[in-house]
Amino acid sequence: MRAQRRAGLTLFAACAALAACGGSGSSAAEKVYRDPSQPLESRVEALLSVMSLEEKVEQMYGTPPNDGSGLSATAPNARLGIPGFRMVDGMRGVGAATGNATTFPVGSARGATFDPALEGQVAAAIGAEARSRGANVLLAPTINLLRHPRWGRAQETYGEDTFHVGAMAAAFVAGAQEQVITATKHFALYSIEDTRLTVNVQADDRTVREVYLPHFERAVEAGTGAVMSAYNRVNGAYCSENRPLLGEILDGDWGFDGFVVSDWTFGTRSTVPAAEAGLDVEMPAAHYYGLPLLQAVVGGALPLSDVDDAVRRVLRAKLRFGIFDGRPALDPALEIESAAHTALARQVEREAIVLLQNEGAALPIDRAATRQIAVVGALAATANTGDTGSSSTRSSYVVTPLAGIQALAGPSTTVVDLSRDVLAPADEAAVAASDVAVVVVGLTSADEGEAGLGAGDRKSLDLSPAHLALVADVASHNPRTVVVLEGSGALVVEPFVEIVPAILMAWYPGLEGGNALAEVLFGDVNPSGKLPVSFPVSEGQLPPFVNDQAQVTYGFLHGYRYLDTAAEDPRFPFGFGLSYTTFSFANLSLDRASAAPGATVHVSVEVTNEGPVAGDEVVELYASYPGSAVPRAVRELKGFARVSIDPGATATVGLDLPVNDLAYWDSTRGAFSVEPLTYTLSVGDSSRSLPLSASLAVPPG
Ligand code: BGC
Repeated sequence: MRAQRRAGLTLFAACAALAACGGSGSSAAEKVYRDPSQPLESRVEALLSVMSLEEKVEQMYGTPPNDGSGLSATAPNARLGIPGFRMVDGMRGVGAATGNATTFPVGSARGATFDPALEGQVAAAIGAEARSRGANVLLAPTINLLRHPRWGRAQETYGEDTFHVGAMAAAFVAGAQEQVITATKHFALYSIEDTRLTVNVQADDRTVREVYLPHFERAVEAGTGAVMSAYNRVNGAYCSENRPLLGEILDGDWGFDGFVVSDWTFGTRSTVPAAEAGLDVEMPAAHYYGLPLLQAVVGGALPLSDVDDAVRRVLRAKLRFGIFDGRPALDPALEIESAAHTALARQVEREAIVLLQNEGAALPIDRAATRQIAVVGALAATANTGDTGSSSTRSSYVVTPLAGIQALAGPSTTVVDLSRDVLAPADEAAVAASDVAVVVVGLTSADEGEAGLGAGDRKSLDLSPAHLALVADVASHNPRTVVVLEGSGALVVEPFVEIVPAILMAWYPGLEGGNALAEVLFGDVNPSGKLPVSFPVSEGQLPPFVNDQAQVTYGFLHGYRYLDTAAEDPRFPFGFGLSYTTFSFANLSLDRASAAPGATVHVSVEVTNEGPVAGDEVVELYASYPGSAVPRAVRELKGFARVSIDPGATATVGLDLPVNDLAYWDSTRGAFSVEPLTYTLSVGDSSRSLPLSASLAVPPG
């Protein structure tokens, strides 16, 4: 029995005790479950009460639809009129198997926007496109914490920080669930690709609760209708049969009443242990569920109550999200790559691009003063939208960096197409003769992606020797060289950081990426993205990335927390990103000097745009724990807000800090605990640039 399943209503318990109520369920029960005005739980129980064991079990596994839709599915029940689930991937857009879709910038790019409201719009757009393809479940968002930037699926998730990932995840869930059910994935501690099917991730309670799970709890609080279990093991048990994760935490502590779906093919590892732990649906087809599950119940190895509980969850989702009652179909012709969605993809990339370096105001490029721009590198003319794994998408067009620059350069500026990785002497001469050289380098799906379907984990954080040689070559011929990086995240820039004035991180920028990049290069858009992942000086600054062992142990520090504690200076810290203007921070104030657990402190700060152009700033709030009795990170992100400010103007930015967010996981009590302490709250524009601080006292309880 699932460890802490909550008791369901037993309105129709007598009927449920019978094998089936027969017919189409035409009974008092049918009146209830077919009536949308009845309470949800009454409808669930009514429906459950008229289902045979076979019908119940059939709700719990995938049946490939073989209808050319490209979706994964569970079977409908014609007798009772229960529709099946129809599922599709969709982290950067609706999965390629269903046809074209708007390809958005990848998750890490969207993480760099630090803009949950925009992420909600992206999710609503992906949800609408998925629904127009006939899907009712979206296999997203991917919110595994980026423990190490070499993880092959780094591009799918939002970044390395649990607070930030949680805020983005909640926004995605709320936005997408206007249209479809989200299956928030992959629960949990999945951040290695090459051994993902088997690796046993060991972590103590505190690490699990404080670092790897809070963002999943945010998604549950936001109402995610489903959670997908991860392939890997956690503390010995596969995630799909992991009682502490599924039973005690997800179900018990968080009160999740949606359903748990397995990851595909190797995601389910057993029949009885999985069903007992709380795996509700095996995908994409019955292997351990189906007949073996039926036999387990009939033979007494699995209590019927466990099947009932799983089916309750499935039915509840189908009723809650309107799947049972039927929702109008959306027209793909109006949704797929609609003008609104492609414009949104462009806006996301505008906010996602991170200006990492800009010596001597090499950027922006003033069209009027620029005769010629050399655009260099094979990636400049490549539709580089990300991994070929389950998150892959197909779009009818992709604006490359070269195309974007050509479109926006203006009539008096010549754009020289040098979209190759090895330059001939004539190319070098063209670079030298240009006012500015833009060289596009980085990663592709050949370097990183999902294991089995893509490239797996990255081999290193370095650029390829060919790309390093190209950057050096261009920089040696033109002092105004702008390096545009593409990829999932952290790259080591040491070989060229001193020899080029400007560096931008463009991520995998989506179908409108080239346009947004050109807007930033020409200063039509002021860059405002912030790194959701630390860029180290070298991989040696980070905790080891072990992706060839049967077992790994995770500690509670990684990313900026690890770098801060080790007193290592990264090249570009978490939360960092430049602008074409400068912002100053003043007058940090708290609405109270002391607060008890349960209270919320209002923090406000004034931000002034000191420069000549309008821009967006992301205000970041970090907490520190001087004098804590337990080991803590040096500082942790606890709030952020994006704000647009006109030149010379000052904005007052408010952030709410629930005191409970200052808690640590107390393993002896098995609960979160807020230490009585004088906390330091710091505000600024990156994890390493925090000009203002204030104290907050939490008195002894
Ligand atoms: C991935 C999931 C994905 C599923 C279905 C698996 O390989 O890990 O993220 O949702 O395939 O495509």
